[in-house]
Amino acid sequence: MLVTGGAGYIGTHTCIALIEAGHTVVVADNLCNSKRESIEKFKKIMNTHIPFYEIDVSNRKAVETIFENHQLDGVIHFAGLKAVGESVEKPSLYYENNVVSTLVLVNCCLKFGVNRFVFSSSATVYGDNKVPFVETMDLLPTTNPYGETKAICERILTDIAKANPSFSVSLLRYFNPIGAHESGLIGEAPNGIPNNLMPYITQVAKGMRDYLSIFGNDYPTIDGTGVRDYIHVMDLAEGHVAAIHAMLQGVHIYNLGTGQGTSVLQLVKAFEEANGVTIRYEIVERRPGDLACCYADVEKARQELGWIAKRDVVTMCKDAWRFEKNTLHQGV
Ligand code: NAD
Ligand code: WQD
Repeated sequence: MLVTGGAGYIGTHTCIALIEAGHTVVVADNLCNSKRESIEKFKKIMNTHIPFYEIDVSNRKAVETIFENHQLDGVIHFAGLKAVGESVEKPSLYYENNVVSTLVLVNCCLKFGVNRFVFSSSATVYGDNKVPFVETMDLLPTTNPYGETKAICERILTDIAKANPSFSVSLLRYFNPIGAHESGLIGEAPNGIPNNLMPYITQVAKGMRDYLSIFGNDYPTIDGTGVRDYIHVMDLAEGHVAAIHAMLQGVHIYNLGTGQGTSVLQLVKAFEEANGVTIRYEIVERRPGDLACCYADVEKARQELGWIAKRDVVTMCKDAWRFEKNTLHQGV
């Protein structure tokens, strides 16, 4: 299995789940948002050798070399840029990186007869549909170029699968992955100031940030703060293994979430209770582009993949904190 973006947050955890399930893994990553060290760490966790190519997966020649060197049975395409705010400032970078890489990879699959392709999509493609989000919903425009790259890649892959009947595509729409592998060795370590809630919370707990800014408490939710479907990254990783095992010809779309909504204040409280720490926070203005509420309908993945998320929010908080305590941040 070729895992692009396999040095990143979800990619490293998925490599572990794949190897545990008996798959052989080859990783390609240009390390633009990750470190070689994370590859070394998951090799240590799994006590195994993993071929690693430090390449840009938009580079067709470099990608072809991997297809020539290895007998691949599929591609899981995680590689992509994912910072929503940056995508508004640098849309062409996002369209080029995320869309071109997908085209290059899918064309290599067709050329080399590799018939399974799993794509990292996002709940963001649902826009502000009514919750819970169901796979059959029409996609609504997203508020940023990052989300558009996901919707565009979904359409490209759908058209290509239609034109190539032996090709199987899984479009996996992730909700909000948090937490870390239970070893505490790998997890999410963003560069600079975190955009996402959980890494911000763990950095406040560690004393790296004074307080958490909570973006709005006047949403129509249980306590006024934003509600999301947080999913443990290892559950998400195992969802990929289930998707690969179930792969049928054509295009299949699955939500990977828990089906449960948790508010910002609920997550903060769960983190404090799980770890015996205090998280200082202040309520500030809403963040532009944020939804009040986002959670998944998870019935399709349960029925067709036989997969459900097993780990609860307390486990997510404990695992995120264990990893944070082990992590040295640079340039903060
Ligand atoms: P990440 O940044 O930790 O991992 C992505 C990896 O891809 C990084 O290691 C980066 O160096 C690599 N990469 C980026 N562009 C590349 C290129 N052109 N060539 C080679 N390598 C490249 O992010 P993640 O959280 O692990 O996300 C993985 C995928 O899942 C992304 O496509 C992201 O858009 C998608 N996704 C993430 C979330 C989330 O909340 N983390 C939610 C929904 C979807
Ligand atoms: C969660 C909640 C914030 C930070 C983003 C992308 C999405 C997907 C996942 C890739 C919201 C609140 C956050 C903070 C806060 N990525 N918050 N203070 O916005 O659901 O999704 O990441 O596909 O595309 O948009 O996740 O973790 O940023 O926010 O109050 O410092 O926490 O308002 O309610 P989000 P998030």
